[in-house]
Amino acid sequence: MLSTVLLGAAAVMAGVANAQVTATGTMGVTNPTAASLGTAVNMSSYARLLSLNAIDDFCVFAPPETGSTIGDTEAIQVAWCVQPRNDARVIPDGTLSAVHFVRTPLYWQVQGFGDFTRMNIAEGDEGGELDPHGATGDGNPVGGNVTCNATGSDVSYEEWMNYMSYQQFCLRICIAENSTYSAAIECQHTLDEMGCAWVMPGDYTNGTFTDCEADSAYPPGVYPLANGTTSTFAQRYTGSYTNSGTLAYWTIGYTSTPQTAASTPASSSCTTYSTVSNGIPTAALTSGAYFTYTPGMTFTDLPTTTESASTVIESALTDSAGATTGTAQVTVAATDAAAVSASSSTAASAGHAVFAPSTGLVAGAFSVLAALAGVGAVML
Ligand SMILES: *[C@@H]1O[C@H](CO)[C@@H](O)[C@H](O)[C@H]1NC(C)=O
Ligand SMILES: *[C@@H]1O[C@H](CO)[C@@H](O)[C@H](O)[C@H]1NC(C)=O
Ligand SMILES: *[C@@H]1O[C@H](CO)[C@@H](O)[C@H](O)[C@H]1NC(C)=O
Ligand SMILES: *[C@@H]1O[C@H](CO)[C@@H](O)[C@H](O)[C@H]1NC(C)=O
Ligand SMILES: *[C@@H]1O[C@H](CO)[C@@H](O)[C@H](O)[C@H]1NC(C)=O
Ligand SMILES: *[C@@H]1O[C@H](CO)[C@@H](O)[C@H](O)[C@H]1NC(C)=O
Repeated sequence: MLSTVLLGAAAVMAGVANAQVTATGTMGVTNPTAASLGTAVNMSSYARLLSLNAIDDFCVFAPPETGSTIGDTEAIQVAWCVQPRNDARVIPDGTLSAVHFVRTPLYWQVQGFGDFTRMNIAEGDEGGELDPHGATGDGNPVGGNVTCNATGSDVSYEEWMNYMSYQQFCLRICIAENSTYSAAIECQHTLDEMGCAWVMPGDYTNGTFTDCEADSAYPPGVYPLANGTTSTFAQRYTGSYTNSGTLAYWTIGYTSTPQTAASTPASSSCTTYSTVSNGIPTAALTSGAYFTYTPGMTFTDLPTTTESASTVIESALTDSAGATTGTAQVTVAATDAAAVSASSSTAASAGHAVFAPSTGLVAGAFSVLAALAGVGAVML
């Protein structure tokens, strides 16, 4: 039996001669040079750097513009993070309805549910898969890069996969490999029609937030057999070609699909949380917003979507000591997007307010951009 297993392992490794764990490529041009916590919130960001460090410190990819399908925007998706980090957009509190984070020997993974229409995914879009192997070889999205601090510092890994739909997400970053399973096999990216629970088995309970250690799952599509070997499922692909003017078809993959993953790995040392959050008022996270958030900072009189036309709204930004560090003023001219405009900025004694351009906002939404003391004004 042992020799059978080893033969199987050799066969798996032979198929992934270029397998590697840590990344050697380049950082995407729209990304910061390295992952870091506490960067400014930029709701127009095109940064594509994900980090997966904790149940309340991770990022996923989602479209830059509202109402987009994943399939149509794979190459241009941007990073959205629970905390302000990596110069990325911030996931508004309340978006995530379940988060399950597992740390395993071969990968770290997070999965769950949420209302991802709040992160620009079209209502009802069953979504798709993001990974570092896009059609151009540059990854989907192009320039996508991931880090994980499993080793105690931020390391950039080569193999990862992130499935997104309008209501479900999962992200796996492969941080190690052994002689049985390479990182490329454990983060196998060719099964994009299978969905989260099939590719990344784990806890998919909605409404709960857990952080656990777990065994590594069998790689996606790998099933143990009674005689000690494994069988590997391949997603079915059909294509066509022309042979001397005659249209012909080729097909690879299996005709019948196993209904579930081989098993759900056992987990242990779980901690349950009531939610994950960043504490930033969601009204401050509108399209175009840019500000530096410090915990404890409050926003007074933020715009609401029910303000009537011509209302002037002034929002004071107050730091944790209660000092006003900036103000922002917007005039609501009408209910349609183009007419919601920033009228003027009021420089507070210790800071400046800045506003987004009036175009590109969703109807009824507002942008408040405030640079805090010492940052200076930024006119966009
Ligand atoms: C991500 O960027 C880092 C830092 O530049 C780089 O070392 C790494 O190879 C990049 N990752 C990929 C997958 O190219
Ligand atoms: C916000 O992100 C966009 C796109 O990455 C960038 O062009 C812009 O300069 C950023 N805003 C600020 C104020 O840094
Ligand atoms: C990894 O990141 C998490 C979340 O930011 C942090 O709490 C933790 O201390 C970091 N781990 C290490 C080993 O640096
Ligand atoms: C998960 O729970 C939230 C909150 O109850 C709910 O709105 C959402 O529809 C649920 N998602 C799924 C996929 O059932
Ligand atoms: C590699 O890791 C997997 C998952 O943890 C495990 O089942 C397998 O036995 C490991 N192989 C070796 C040679 O340690
Ligand atoms: C193990 O079982 C599978 C499925 O029955 C079979 O196809 C395969 O040949 C067997 N392998 C060995 C080494 O017995």
